[in-house]
Amino acid sequence: MKYNFDRLIDRTNTNSVKWDLTDQVFNKDKCLPLWVADSDWETAPEIKEAIKKRVKHGVYGYTYPSYELKEVIKKWVKSHYSWDIKTDWIVFANGVVPSINISIRALTVPGDGIIIQTPVYLPFISTVKNTGRQIVDNQLINRQSYFEIDFDDLKKQLNNENKDSCKRARLLLFCAPHNPVGRVWKKEELNKLNEIVLENDLVLVSDEIHSDFVYGDNQHIPAASLSKEIADKSITLMAPSKTFNIAGLSSSFAIIPNKKIREKFLSIKDHLVGRGNIFGLTAMKAAYSRGNEWLQAQLKYIEENIEFTTDYIDNNIPVVKYSKPQGTYLIWLDFRSIINCSETLNNQLVTEYNVALEPGNWFGESGAGFLRMNLATPRSNIKKALESIKKYVKKVECNYE
Ligand SMILES: Cc1ncc(COP(=O)(O)O)c(C=O)c1O
Repeated sequence: MKYNFDRLIDRTNTNSVKWDLTDQVFNKDKCLPLWVADSDWETAPEIKEAIKKRVKHGVYGYTYPSYELKEVIKKWVKSHYSWDIKTDWIVFANGVVPSINISIRALTVPGDGIIIQTPVYLPFISTVKNTGRQIVDNQLINRQSYFEIDFDDLKKQLNNENKDSCKRARLLLFCAPHNPVGRVWKKEELNKLNEIVLENDLVLVSDEIHSDFVYGDNQHIPAASLSKEIADKSITLMAPSKTFNIAGLSSSFAIIPNKKIREKFLSIKDHLVGRGNIFGLTAMKAAYSRGNEWLQAQLKYIEENIEFTTDYIDNNIPVVKYSKPQGTYLIWLDFRSIINCSETLNNQLVTEYNVALEPGNWFGESGAGFLRMNLATPRSNIKKALESIKKYVKKVECNYE
């Protein structure tokens, strides 16, 4: 085997948020952490090599993203998502969350409504609140653990003359593939959403950080790639950070076809974010030009992890329902038939069984009774976590009897 995703690498004492901050977050310093969305394996060898080469040079002054890097990104976006972009649409940043912040500040004013679709990645919620904008929550519909966009509710909320935030909704913050529910949105769904964006003169800010993690017949389609009209009203956010496990190198990019929107984005960004990180940009170029073989091997391993997890749950803990990920490496577990409070769930799992997942209520109210589990880890860790969850569920069920 060319790449060994089974290898256990000790990440403790490496300033890893996932492994070293569990004492601060969950009051437990030695546990199996399957919460934060990064992977537990080494990045692609091509990326390691490129960084080593750059380190060897020894001079790390101010840097900037090269034209060649833009060309490499353009090729990746074309070959992976069939989208023809122009190099001057690409704007670099130090992360997708900072770019969400920048987009909101550039395109809306305090008091404006921002549409989000909960349950969703926490910074979607906190960024809207922290910037003084108002959340317009278009909750996803849960059809027996298959999540869908509630288009009727979205239209209703946008037509709501009585609610100030809805009247002033300016921006739809979209997550594709969706964290935590793992949906890869279909073309028909995206077309419907785009139509609503255009009819209501919104801007679509689409967080596509998980776009390289899609399985089976699912295909990631950037919403903005579907028509010239929607491209003109959009910001698409992407990064190699999840794909190649280099989140600590803080590098991402936005695709902004409309010049006016791009200039607004840049006018905020240039005052907040520097020109770039040498190692992040070096890694990005190596990833998108030479990392595809490693990525395909990683995807195969994660897909097998997903199968392993769903088989285990079906056979051993059928009371736990799950949304089988079409994309991302995260699985959204529904414990509501035994317990409704995610914090209690997670606390008990951490304290008594040494496993930390991510409490569902961090993703909004509709996440109560859910936990999100990260499957980008060696299978032996997943087995250990599932065995602990099984014991925990048994104990809770016994207490009910
Ligand atoms: C949907 C989504 N967006 C953004 C991020 C973080 O992006 P960044 O580290 O580039 O700020 C994550 C990380 O988990 C995520 O899941």
